[in-house]
Amino acid sequence: MKKLIAAIACGIVFTASSTINAAVDFDKQVKPLLEAKCINCHAAPYKSGSRTKKPKAGLRIDTRENLLKGSDDNKVIKIGDAGKSLFYQRSILPADHDDIMPPKGDPLNKVELSVLKDWIDSGLKWTDGVVLKRKE
Ligand code: HEC
Repeated sequence: MKKLIAAIACGIVFTASSTINAAVDFDKQVKPLLEAKCINCHAAPYKSGSRTKKPKAGLRIDTRENLLKGSDDNKVIKIGDAGKSLFYQRSILPADHDDIMPPKGDPLNKVELSVLKDWIDSGLKWTDGVVLKRKE
């Protein structure tokens, strides 16, 4: 009987963890989130009239490579550890905190935060060739 219970428990743990890993879909969940909430201020430099607008804090998130390069001052991603990634840390701050990202508009909701966390925790998967673009 004990063996049976242990076997069932293992099955549950195994199923639960494999569901979590399979859960994050870059194209369906992460890309739309970054495009809606982050890219407009952290895109490639672009012209606005006669001025060139640069990404805020030097942080470009249009490609995985640029995101991994980080900002002028910091690495913002620790692959496999959202809790130690500035990119996530700045998003989970209280809504009235001076440093919260995005600084304008609605903060990320619980679902979005868990997508961001799972994405970083599970290795920052990025579909080959995808370049995020800002919306005008
Ligand atoms: C409306 C513009 C805007 C949006 C949208 C925005 N940011 Fe920022 N971000 C900034 C500005 C301005 C700074 C630099 C000042 C500061 O650090 O607060 C910054 C800085 C950062 C930094 C700190 C870099 C460093 O080394 O200090 C991180 C990390 C960051 N943003 C992540 C995000 C994430 C994640 C999102 C989306 C959830 C996001 N940002 C959306 C404007 C924006």
